[in-house]
Amino acid sequence: MTELAAGIPAGIPAGLPVDLDALDLADPRTFRAHDQYAIWRRLRAEAPVFWNAPRGGRPGFWALTRYDDIMAVYKDDDHFTSERGNVLTTLLAGGDSAAGRMLAVTDGKRHQDLRNVFLKAFSPRALSYVAERVRENTRARVRAGVEMGACDFARDVAEKIPINTICDLLGVPEGDEHRDHLLDLTKTALSSDEVDADDEDAAEASLEARNEILMYFDDLVTEHRRTPKDDVIGAMVASSIDGVPLTDDDIVFNCYSLIIGGDETSRLTMIGTVPAMVGHPEQWAAYRAGEIETKTAVEEILRWVSPAMHFGRSALKDVTVRGTRIAAGDIVTLWNSSANRDEDVFDGPERLDLRRFPNRHATFGYGPHFCLGAYLGRTEVGAMLEALREFVAEMHITAEPEPVHSNLLSGISSLQVKLLPA
Ligand code: HEM
Repeated sequence: MTELAAGIPAGIPAGLPVDLDALDLADPRTFRAHDQYAIWRRLRAEAPVFWNAPRGGRPGFWALTRYDDIMAVYKDDDHFTSERGNVLTTLLAGGDSAAGRMLAVTDGKRHQDLRNVFLKAFSPRALSYVAERVRENTRARVRAGVEMGACDFARDVAEKIPINTICDLLGVPEGDEHRDHLLDLTKTALSSDEVDADDEDAAEASLEARNEILMYFDDLVTEHRRTPKDDVIGAMVASSIDGVPLTDDDIVFNCYSLIIGGDETSRLTMIGTVPAMVGHPEQWAAYRAGEIETKTAVEEILRWVSPAMHFGRSALKDVTVRGTRIAAGDIVTLWNSSANRDEDVFDGPERLDLRRFPNRHATFGYGPHFCLGAYLGRTEVGAMLEALREFVAEMHITAEPEPVHSNLLSGISSLQVKLLPA
């Protein structure tokens, strides 16, 4: 069994000294060279409002690592906007082409109106059918993984669960042809599994994948206009804001937002459940014995894995954070993965405690842009925990796991395991 140091994604060298002057949080290689939690500990203690210097023609940006500061910015849409991008890739490129149209990069009244279009389709009640499909699909895939004996948990078990959930939501036709294609595109658009991928190549591949996703949804929206359907695209097609129907572009951008926002984050959390349990056999045993409720276990896995390391904003006005002046126009990044280990908020933050309660983790963000898919994300992680409990007695990690290559996402893209049946 591969033993994992607490909280350190496998494949990452632990304990390397972190030189704050040389630190570049925009460079995905930073997260391969260091244990990210060692970086966050240093920044929380020594530079909680950290200036990540400009490099190679791209602007510098602020990085906040303390829970309270991060939550305050998430909540403050008076001083901070998402409309110039909400992740480093778009913020550093000078903006997001979907600003004002895609939910995550729209602010103010338009954001609220758009969010209302979605909220009905995303209520736990409306999602009960999709949630049931998640549970069935997860059970089937975990059972198949156990039958295989040895498998890649990322590729053979977890990979297709979230993509199928979102495809169910959006009415993407059943069958692997469409859904596998979308999965490939999503993986390329957001992160790279390639360790040595050249940054420029990766950026180009990512852009191409984004465009292909948009084109795919353009066709799907046209089809929905021809034949109305009872799904999320159907709800968008039928809705209007202030009497003006949503345009095809509006709908396409928001389909993109759901697939990009909901696939890889959930997938990485489901995959991260395995090393979390393998690294904490006493917690796994207690969970299997029914001594721990799935509800608290789900929240702790979400805190522990923190699949989306950061989100970001741009300052609209001059503002002071913890005594440091941030100027209007500056980029401010919020590191959820650090907030989730803040010793001022969590008792023993470096300890996995599946019974932890309360657990006010920052994994889904906070404030007006709080994750729309939080209920679904929780359902997926809960389904994974329960399927593992039902079908698996022992899990063994049989090779060094492969981490994703990203400055946004954290987790494992390939996880060789042996699953012994319950
Ligand atoms: C927003 C994380 C699952 C759709 C967010 C935000 C975070 C987040 C941190 C806030 C972004 C910001 O403030 O700029 C996660 C994590 C997930 C997950 C960690 C899984 C474990 C999902 C799923 C869906 C989804 C399953 C949809 C099917 C969205 C959307 C937004 C969002 C549409 C934008 C909401 C808004 O701007 O009002 N997510 N998410 N997410 N998420 Fe998720």
